[in-house]
Amino acid sequence: MSAHGDPIPMMSRPCGPLRGEARVPGDKSISHRSLILGALCVGETRITGLLEGQDVLDTAKAMRAFGAEVTDHGDGEWSVHGVGVGGFAEPDQVIDCGNSGTGVRLIMGAMATSPIAATFTGDASLNGRPMGRVTDPLALFGTRAVGRQGGRLPMTLVGAADPVPVRYATPVPSAQVKSAVLLAGLNAPGQTVVIEREATRDHTERMLVGFGAEVTVEETEEGRVITLTGQPELQPQEIVVPCDPSSAAFPVCAALIVEGSDVVVPNIGLNPTRAGLFTTLRDMGADLTYENEREEGGEPVADLRARFSPDLKGIVVPADRAASMIDEYPVLSVVAAFAEGVTEMPGVKELRVKESDRIDAMAKGLRAAGVTVDEGEDWWSVTGLGHGRVPGGVTVESRLDHRIAMAFMVLGMASGKPMSVDDGSPIATSFPIFEPLMTSLGADIVKVKP
Ligand code: S3P
Repeated sequence: MSAHGDPIPMMSRPCGPLRGEARVPGDKSISHRSLILGALCVGETRITGLLEGQDVLDTAKAMRAFGAEVTDHGDGEWSVHGVGVGGFAEPDQVIDCGNSGTGVRLIMGAMATSPIAATFTGDASLNGRPMGRVTDPLALFGTRAVGRQGGRLPMTLVGAADPVPVRYATPVPSAQVKSAVLLAGLNAPGQTVVIEREATRDHTERMLVGFGAEVTVEETEEGRVITLTGQPELQPQEIVVPCDPSSAAFPVCAALIVEGSDVVVPNIGLNPTRAGLFTTLRDMGADLTYENEREEGGEPVADLRARFSPDLKGIVVPADRAASMIDEYPVLSVVAAFAEGVTEMPGVKELRVKESDRIDAMAKGLRAAGVTVDEGEDWWSVTGLGHGRVPGGVTVESRLDHRIAMAFMVLGMASGKPMSVDDGSPIATSFPIFEPLMTSLGADIVKVKP
């Protein structure tokens, strides 16, 4: 069952060349943060290009529940009248974050140092994911949390009435954990410090600076040390959300494996903490170029041009690149199936605790489609069959995971026989226009009756 309705089985049939321009929606990470930071300042933040996927809509609803005024002006234009740092009201209903780990973990951080209680829940996927990674550091501020066994949702947080600043080294490479601590640190006096051994996406740090907070980042032997000075008066902003590199990954990868394709994906945020997939694809021999490289709203942006690449080679993806492409491994494994040789993907334990266990979900589906996959707790590898040699022809489970559903739809565009997923509805969490957009390029994707 999907989070917000009935399952929608989908099928992708082998198709002719993909051609044209693929305008993908706004960045999911930046969209969540725009709403949350907008809610934490007094005055009006205007947002252009907000991702109107279910994950972000659930965060918008949550910000209203905490007292912010969030208005949809149409066409991706939104405004937020915030309540200021420490100004969150106590919600009178349970906060349902749907499928979104980013939503729930960042919102938990944002409310953790206000003297209010809130109860969080989500869909079956989110309610199975670990929250202790966030509530452990929040406890250092004085926040209390009571949830189900294993630190699972539903869970109630009681914010610290007298928060103390925190110094915390993240035990897992997670931008969500880092961001939760920084957002909690906003309403603590003094300096809150987060140390991360491996750099993860840095949108929170960048955006906090944009909103007027004092944030410094130092590269040290311990790792990246991020220091936030608490209790700033955040200033409302005009935010233009760049298009999402994690969504761009799907038309880009599809173009590389479908014969004769030539697709341009304009306006893609290429923040180095997000762009690891594109480097990896180029290392594999992909015909992928960056055009019109520029800077917008403090983020590097370019138009991506991807063309059919018949001579892709398997590589070892460097483990230290994992954080910068963590959401892209499912679709990378599809491209790897069409390459010659083995693609090894080490250092990816975090894939086991995403919307689904993504190694298990992809391995089972790829094997069913005729591809050899090996795996361990924190690594996996795909033995490529080469262009035109992936059989396909099966239905696989998407496990309430948008990226698993889209990855198998991409596979079906270039496999011998069509690929189906039991439920494509989770795609709406991050990429609601996936099906019409891919169809407009030449894909043959249909919703099928169960
Ligand atoms: C995100 C961080 C990543 C990523 C998720 C979005 C964010 O999760 O997988 O889709 O916006 O901070 P982790 O921080 O848990 O790795």
